Amino acid sequence: MTDRPAGPAPSPVLRVQHLRVAYPIRSSVMLRRVGEIVAVSDVTFDVGPGETVGLVGESGSGKSTIARAVIGLVAATAGSIEFEGRDITRYGPQQLKAVRRDMQMVFQDPYASLNPRLTVRDQIAECWRVHRGQLPRAHWTDEAKQLMERVGLNPDYSDRYPHQFSGGQRQRICIARALALRPKLIICDEAVSALDVSVQAQVLNLLADLQDEFGLSYLFISHDLSVIEHLSDRVLVLNKGEVVEEGAVRQIFADPRDAYTRALLAAVPVVRPWLESPT
Ligand SMILES: Nc1ncnc2c1ncn2[C@@H]1O[C@H](COP(=O)(O)OP(=O)(O)OP(=O)(O)O)[C@@H](O)[C@H]1O
Ligand SMILES: [Mg+2]
Repeated sequence: MTDRPAGPAPSPVLRVQHLRVAYPIRSSVMLRRVGEIVAVSDVTFDVGPGETVGLVGESGSGKSTIARAVIGLVAATAGSIEFEGRDITRYGPQQLKAVRRDMQMVFQDPYASLNPRLTVRDQIAECWRVHRGQLPRAHWTDEAKQLMERVGLNPDYSDRYPHQFSGGQRQRICIARALALRPKLIICDEAVSALDVSVQAQVLNLLADLQDEFGLSYLFISHDLSVIEHLSDRVLVLNKGEVVEEGAVRQIFADPRDAYTRALLAAVPVVRPWLESPT
């Protein structure tokens, strides 16, 4: 989390303005476009340097669609997405490739996002293979091992395959891989949702430590309010593709103004293992 000194706000790493994303509905005949599903209708927010912005909302509220639009996996139907001051909304594949070096993503299911046929070392080194010129090949093994160590994995296991690790360890591999190109922004889409609660706490604490060490910004997506509360500086509450409430995390949790936010808060049994004192 950030603790900024007073003064002019630094320019945002990510600026999303009036984003709208609609998925086409196609008929089974000739795949003709017969309508659209508006997944995100008018979403505006910034993510500052070193800041964590949480996106929370029930299933189908448009959280992943926002993440996909930011990373360029789906096109924005309207609005703009600026990364470090550049409008990337209409970037082509080559330009997007360069942006993706600075913007990484960690998904919910670490097993599905790892290649089962690559060792951890190769999994991490894949980033340097794709983005040539970032790190000479002779350093790949050492750097991969250092990243493993940094995320709490034994570097002696660098020749092991994803199935030889637990769920929490696999998510650490994904985090190490996301760090390999020293990004500015990491988008975590339900990154701890598949892990059990005690492992969730460890991974969240790791993400917080890495943020300080690497000066990362996070766009942190979760349907779980206790997870959002733990990591975020600011929260956006999404409902049906629209932001219904936005504010500092303490304010939203202490005094939710929107009825939907209140309903979300009331519906979830909040478990915060990270607040328990170690025994
Ligand atoms: N590829 C797609 N084609 C058509 N509609 C889609 C597609 N992906 C998502 N949608 C629709 O867009 C809306 C938003 O989906 P999205 O996946 O962004 O929600 P979400 O908030 O991430 O939900 P969850 O918490 O379940 O992951 C939903 O109504 C969904 O059905
Ligand atoms: Mg989602």
